Parts: sequence; C-alpha cells; structure tokens
Amino acid sequence: MSTARCGGSPPACFGSVLHVTDHSIPDLSAFHRATRTPQPVVVLAFKIDDGYHNAWCSQPFANGVYFTLEFIMKNFFSRLFPPKAGGQPESGRNGTRKRRWRLLQVEPALACNLRCVMCPWREIAQNLENHGLMSQEIWEAIRPYLPEIQSVDFTGGGEPLLQPHLPEWIAEAQSAGCETGFLSNGLLLTKEKLQQILDAGVDWICISMDGADAQLYEKIRIGSNFKRVCENVANIAAMRTGSVPRIMINFVLMDLNCHQVEDIVRLGSRLGVDQINFKQCEVIRGERGKGHGLFGARETRDIRRLKKSLEKARRLAKKLNVATTAFAFTPEERSVCDQDPRDSLFIRYDGVAAPCINLAIGGPTTFLGKEVEIPNIHYGRLPDSDLMALWQTETCKFYRQQFEQRLKAYDQAVVNGMLNNPGGNRLRALEAATAAMPEPPRGCNVCHYLYDI
Ligand SMILES: C[S@@+](CC[C@H](N)C(=O)[O-])C[C@H]1O[C@@H](n2cnc3c(N)ncnc32)[C@H](O)[C@@H]1O
Ligand code: SF4
Repeated sequence: MSTARCGGSPPACFGSVLHVTDHSIPDLSAFHRATRTPQPVVVLAFKIDDGYHNAWCSQPFANGVYFTLEFIMKNFFSRLFPPKAGGQPESGRNGTRKRRWRLLQVEPALACNLRCVMCPWREIAQNLENHGLMSQEIWEAIRPYLPEIQSVDFTGGGEPLLQPHLPEWIAEAQSAGCETGFLSNGLLLTKEKLQQILDAGVDWICISMDGADAQLYEKIRIGSNFKRVCENVANIAAMRTGSVPRIMINFVLMDLNCHQVEDIVRLGSRLGVDQINFKQCEVIRGERGKGHGLFGARETRDIRRLKKSLEKARRLAKKLNVATTAFAFTPEERSVCDQDPRDSLFIRYDGVAAPCINLAIGGPTTFLGKEVEIPNIHYGRLPDSDLMALWQTETCKFYRQQFEQRLKAYDQAVVNGMLNNPGGNRLRALEAATAAMPEPPRGCNVCHYLYDI
C-alpha cells in the first residue's frame, strides 16, 4: 500500500476512509469521536495542493492521516496549478473558507480583435447581440452572489479587454473577497488599462502567446503585434506590487510552433512571467480549429519526440525559475474534468449559464479523430432567471450528480482495490476503478478535458 503520510509511522492497516469531495478540512477530532476509531484515516480528497495538505497536517490527530499515493500522483501535480482557462491558482486569499461556488467563469466578451488561425470562436463571434459584449445588466445579476464565489475567471471565447467594464467588475469581485483573473491576447493592455486593472486588485493575468518571435507569432495571431504584446507583458512585471498579479503565458501547441517550446520559455523568463501553460489545441467546431492538434488516441513516434522536447523545455523553465503546466498527449480518463461543474458555472457573454464553455457553444467537433457532435447544454439565462434558480435546475443538478457519482465510484474502487489486494498491480487497480465509473454525462463523453488533453 502506498501512502504519503502527514506524520507518525506507517500503519499496519487502514481504518477509516474519509472522503472529502470539496476543498474543506473536516475536524479530525470530531471525526475520531464520531467513528470511535483510533485507527489511521485515509483521506481521499479530490483536490490536494500544498496549502490543503499543510492545513491537514497542522491539525491535532494529524499523524493518523494518510493520503493515498495514487491520489497524490493523480491529482497533486495537475491540481497544484489548475490549468483550465489560464491555469489560475485555486485557493486564493479567501483560503479554504467554504463558498458555494469554487469558480464562476464569466465571459466578458465573445467578440475578439484578432483572427488566430486555430481559434474556433472567432467565426462563431459574428453578428452577436450587443456586439458580443456582456451587458452590465447580466453582471448585476451575478453581483449579489459574489460573496458565495471563491474565484471569478473573466475569460471566455473572446477578448476580455474589449469589455469596457472589466476593471470595475474585477474590483467588485475583489471587494466581495473573490480571487480574480483573466486570459487575454494582451494587445489592448496599455499602461493606462493595466493600471486600472492593477488598482482593481487582480490576482492573475494570463497572456496568450503562441509564438516566440514576431514572424511566427503574427502568422498565428493574425492582427496582433508581437513587439507591443511583449512590452505589455513586461509592463505587468514592472508595474505590479511584489508578485501579484501572477503573470502567465498560454502557449497552444501546434505543428506550426512546437519547435519553439524552449524559445517561449526563454522569452517568458526575459519578460518576467511566473508561469507558462502549454495547452493542447483541442477546441474544434466543424472545420474551425481542426488539424492543429498534436495529441492522439495512441502514443506515436511523433508524440514521443514532442513529449521529450516539451520535457526539455520544462526543465529549462525550472532552471530559469518559471513554473510550467502541460496536458497529456494521449487520453487518460478522469472522474471529473478540471472545470468540475459540481461547484462551478460558466456564464456566456449573453447570460446563458452552462457547465462549461464547451457545452455553452456546442456543434460538430472532432474527438480523438472521430467526427461527433457536442450538444448545447444550457441551464437557462441571466438576467431572466436568477443565478440560484439556474443552479437548481434539473439539468444542472444532473450534471453535478453524475460527476459526484463518478468520483465516488472511482475513489471507492481504488480504496477497495488497495485494501483487498495490497500487493496487487496498481495500474490494473486504476483501470478497474475507471471502469467502475458511470458514463460521463452527455457532451462530456466527447470532451478532451475529461481525458486530460
Ligand atoms: C479563445 S481565447 C480567449 C481569450 C483571449 N482572446 C486570448 O487570445 O487569450 C482562450 C485561449 O484559447 C486558446 N485557443 C485558441 N484556439 C484554440 C483551440 N482550437 N484549442 C485550444 N485552445 C485554443 C487561445 O490561445 C487562448 O489561450
Ligand atoms: S468534461 Fe464536460 S463539463 Fe468538463 S469541460 Fe468537458 S464538456 Fe465541460
């Protein structure tokens, strides 16, 4: 049995299994009293990061707590810097305090000022209501719920800096105690705009750069200007206070740019960024976004080569003190995607609420080489309905429950496998756990995110 301990000596056997399906730290003393067990506790926490682990370990009774290694292996690294929508850090200044929603992803604009070659949203974003900008009315429907939201990610399919209210919305979310950030192409981040956003108190800013020199960058990001974006990124580093906001670069891996993975690390380091997120090019709608992805259903020689060069770039980043994140190149089914609709919502620019951006705008797509359809899954629309009413719709409850059941079935199968057959083949136990999960809900079964891509 493999475990990572909080403290004490390894237990001869495991006693109670404690499922923690949110980011809370249950009272261990109360747990011991309730279960009347002096035996060690195996914690199956869905999200384990440094802060969470340390918070457990500082409790009385902590030396009876063991985290399963499988869980740490499966969850720790990818969750240390959760990579969705810019890789924003998960627990911010409101720490482990429980709020109803871990994440509200708000799309300030679906309109965009660029025409990136791989982006499926740019064509969808034609002839939109209110010029593709979220209205103040929709934001006002969100506002009363801010104290119940841990983190607001102002990112969607378009360019957030086109939204004139962005600094003011960030400031309101911040004053309600939310962590905030956004992902942008960076072209409109003038010093004046940046100062407004810094004054609003943003926690992270992620800039998309898919090329490390002007020629390639401007070939991919049509309509942008490499020099200006580099200056804008450098300005964040120069104008921020201490290390806030965290500065990140998103680099979408494609056939066009995969030879520049080390160059982007060097460039990021020169510009003063804290983190580079290497993303797969997995968003496809019909022909839009198709053919750029480098992942596959099985590992090929090309994928192996690419993984090696990415590993090299990540080693270089480590030397230069730049953090990195990356996704898998071949599918690895997870119980719940990073978006995790159990405690998050996506609000489209026009107020439509959905489990995530992928299900907010469905359509024909390519899933691991197969032509399939992503359904539109909508809970309803703000401000016609109240946010809480949308959260309580049957569709929303169904998505939350399905993921909850998948998680429980997976965890239980892992624990049973370990308890019943301690010396058994770990890989086989994890495969059995994957097979034990109920089917993913509609749409998620053809979403690369659920397969860690
Ligand atoms: C759609 S953009 C919206 C935010 C902003 N306009 C920007 O460029 O960063 C969000 C992110 O998706 C990435 N992206 C674009 N096309 C993609 C695709 N087909 N698959 C995966 N990510 C993609 C962009 O590079 C960007 O990092
Ligand atoms: S798995 Fe489902 S909920 Fe998660 S990102 Fe994909 S489609 Fe959205």
